[in-house]
Amino acid sequence: MEQTLSIIKPDAVAKGVIGKIIDRFESNGLRIATMKKVQLSRADAEAFYAVHKERSFFGELVDFMISGPVVIIVLEGEEAMAKNRELMGATNPKEAAAGTIRADFAQSIDANAVHGSDSLENAAIEIAFFFAQREIN
Ligand code: CMP
Repeated sequence: MEQTLSIIKPDAVAKGVIGKIIDRFESNGLRIATMKKVQLSRADAEAFYAVHKERSFFGELVDFMISGPVVIIVLEGEEAMAKNRELMGATNPKEAAAGTIRADFAQSIDANAVHGSDSLENAAIEIAFFFAQREIN
């Protein structure tokens, strides 16, 4: 069984589609191993996205991620990392395949509804960033 990290971003939380997004996960064989709703601080967002700190969009990304609460989820299942990425669709919602979370719920490349780990190695790092082992079950 793999684990991966999902974040329901401020745009999707504000739109009231937390439940609809979680239903996509559960209906497609991904189990919620843990989750919490959090208001990220600027320091949290900058540290979480540190890999992007040299990119031109870093400032906007951090501003957006602290613009409201997020829901942070550990998903578990067979090939959970790849399955979550398939369910999310492309980073830019304009390029996301029909029926994916971003095609259905996202507005723009920043307000793109969800984040998902892009490798198993990063999934382990991202999960440990937000959760202690005893919180995951
Ligand atoms: P996410 O999967 O959370 O990882 C980094 C985020 O940066 C990405 O989703 C987008 O919301 C945001 N972003 C903004 N501009 C870009 C870009 N040009 N390329 C990739 N990600 C971008």
